[in-house]
Amino acid sequence: MLSVISKVVVAYDGSELSKQALERAIILAKQDEKVELNVITVIPRPVASIYNYGAIADTAHEANLEVARDMMKEVEEKLKNIPNKTETFIIDGNPAQKIEEFAENNNVDLIVMGSRGLGGVKELFLGSVSHHVVQKAKCEVFIVK
Ligand SMILES: Nc1ncnc2c1ncn2[C@@H]1O[C@H](COP(=O)(O)OP(=O)(O)OP(=O)(O)O)[C@@H](O)[C@H]1O
Ligand SMILES: [Mg+2]
Repeated sequence: MLSVISKVVVAYDGSELSKQALERAIILAKQDEKVELNVITVIPRPVASIYNYGAIADTAHEANLEVARDMMKEVEEKLKNIPNKTETFIIDGNPAQKIEEFAENNNVDLIVMGSRGLGGVKELFLGSVSHHVVQKAKCEVFIVK
């Protein structure tokens, strides 16, 4: 299986299931050190309202970026334990769309992600991001449930 997979991307939002997705991708990558492993997190663009225009929106974005940087530092610590080529990315925008685009533009063969993330509706089997990516991505998608 791994001989046809040269690049794996983990969609990481810091949720329990995305942590499991990262662990699973690391196990996969360990089986073949030629597999490249990328981890991406997308900082959602704030919905425009009178409350987050201008300076307030900038402050909120700066805070989110700080959180994302700390989160990715922890991810990088884990990635140091494997010999594979690895890279982490922090991207701004709509998470579902940016994950789809990243896979498309970077020759990704496999996206590994959780069925749900940080959102609250536990009755749904898939969250909106995993639902979109499963439907739209042109590569394989591995859902940790
Ligand atoms: N901002 C993000 N950046 C990177 N990956 C993400 C992001 N948001 C979600 N994911 C990935 O998608 C998986 C499913 O999360 P999703 O957001 O679809 O579910 P949810 O948060 O429970 O629902 P919703 O966001 O629709 O309220 C996560 O486990 C993670 O792998
Ligand atoms: Mg979510």
